[in-house]
Amino acid sequence: MRIGADYYPEHWEKERWKTDFELMNQAHIKVVRIGEFTWSLYEPVEGKFDFSWMDEALDALHEYGIKVVLCTPSATPPKWMIDRYPDILQRDIYGRAKLSGTRKHYCFNSSVYRKKCHILNTKIAERYGHHPAVEAWQVDNELGWSNTTRCYCDECQDKFRFWLKQKYKTIDRLNEKYGTVVWSQIYNGFDEVNIPRAGACYESCHDTQGQNPGLLLDYYRFCSDSVVDFTKETCEDIRAYSSYPISTNMLDAAVNSGTGINYFDLSEKLDFATWDNYIEFQWGVAEDATVSRDHALIRSYKKKPFWVMEQQAGACGWSKMGPTPTPGKLRLWTYSAVANGADTVVYFRWRTALFGLEQYWHGILNHDGKPGRRYEEISQIGREMELLNQTVGTLMPKARVAIIKSFDSEWSHSIHRHVENFQYDNYELSFYRAFYRLGIAVDFISEKEDMSGYDLVFAPALIMADTETVESLSAYVKNGGSLLLTFRSGIKDEFNAMLPETVPGVFAELAGIQVNDYDPQMEKQTTSSGVFGEAKSTLWCDIIEETTARPLGVYTSDFYAGKSCMTVNEYGNGEVYYLGCDLDDDAMLRLAE
Ligand code: GAL
Repeated sequence: MRIGADYYPEHWEKERWKTDFELMNQAHIKVVRIGEFTWSLYEPVEGKFDFSWMDEALDALHEYGIKVVLCTPSATPPKWMIDRYPDILQRDIYGRAKLSGTRKHYCFNSSVYRKKCHILNTKIAERYGHHPAVEAWQVDNELGWSNTTRCYCDECQDKFRFWLKQKYKTIDRLNEKYGTVVWSQIYNGFDEVNIPRAGACYESCHDTQGQNPGLLLDYYRFCSDSVVDFTKETCEDIRAYSSYPISTNMLDAAVNSGTGINYFDLSEKLDFATWDNYIEFQWGVAEDATVSRDHALIRSYKKKPFWVMEQQAGACGWSKMGPTPTPGKLRLWTYSAVANGADTVVYFRWRTALFGLEQYWHGILNHDGKPGRRYEEISQIGREMELLNQTVGTLMPKARVAIIKSFDSEWSHSIHRHVENFQYDNYELSFYRAFYRLGIAVDFISEKEDMSGYDLVFAPALIMADTETVESLSAYVKNGGSLLLTFRSGIKDEFNAMLPETVPGVFAELAGIQVNDYDPQMEKQTTSSGVFGEAKSTLWCDIIEETTARPLGVYTSDFYAGKSCMTVNEYGNGEVYYLGCDLDDDAMLRLAE
């Protein structure tokens, strides 16, 4: 276990570096991450490269024994590139180009951009692939940050058509699976399929763009695949010259839900997982259970110790600031990461910037560069980590409970939300929160992962499950596992179309129930009573009829009072629970107990 800092040598006079490194050494800071936004220094004009500044920075860090995570600088393509190749710019849903001036303004599918990245990344990897200061790599920075996974440019459209052709082979099959007979959308060829830009009725149905749900889901998958492919290519460029491990800094679940990268797929390309953890800032204050859930997710992507690559270290915000971390908070946040399996916590950032958009985003040191209260707290953590290394070492929770995180289901729910307040990641959080309150570790698994190591698996709102998933869930239960399914599960096919079977569709036999009627809650609350005590539902109520299951809870209000809201079905050596309604937090806690 150790600590580090995100460092920007290019923001400071070289004369200052020595002071910074001495202070880092005194605070037991062992590693810095550098270089993620430096393309215009490496390549100030097209084809002319300058590595001298990075050579000096790395050599200086090495002299002080500080290790380095070196980044590929693709998050900020320079101005000359935008002017010369404007087609590399990402386009939004209305077809408007993102402009330079901020960052992440490029399209992952732009061939020109990909070529430019390949040239520079290869040079960087070749030059620093064996540098004794470097110990790891970071690809780009926060892939997908600020809605940049999904681009709507013409090159994406061409590549999407090719992707569809590979998947469906014939246009007739695509027509059948998308149900293009509805609204006269039948295509005569793949070159007629447009990417789902804002449709005519965008204003009135903004979350579906008024588009075909099959098309939307495929586009989301395609965009995620494009980011994963971009990452794979960058990793290959690095691995051609370096054996240092590679990661990329991921985002918290709520942000990633919006940006849409399948992190299980992305993590396959990486050697270790890292993420950026901001807790109290301009845009709100995160609940402790949410932070813990995000640590658990990141740990789960590789099922091994992870890093926090950016950990809040001071008051944060762009135009306005959140509160300064009160004494002890930095320790609390650090140990909460460590308790969840982090073995390196890197603070953002070393010293607060004097210029640029993030002048108010406070680092360990204030603008004046003098060690203060936060520096002292971090030094204390640094000392403690050295002692902890001699005793406990890295902690990796061994969870017996798992929650299935399905990106396909999440994206399907984001297209058709069922009710205004239903959000897949929040619903998953309600399960996690209950176990968090009990102090029980929970892993996240994809629907394709081996579940045999868990006593209990939750599959909240797993709206689509292919045959392979249904079979593996059945085998898990037959062998003695306990599975909990919920409302809005098993009712769609992988093309985002409804199945003709009675709810819960592909899970009817496993759950031993039928749902012939359900009640979206819109603006009301239905009450229920059962093994979870007394509860309120504000999202959804399935009115359950048992076939082989037995009831564990009933509704106590509305026209379905007395009907089951929760059941259990013995299946093989295990059991399948079905929760037909959402429960308030206290009832969830009692259920978890
Ligand atoms: C992260 C980003 C950093 C920095 C930080 C504070 O999202 O990776 O570069 O911008 O937020 O805003």
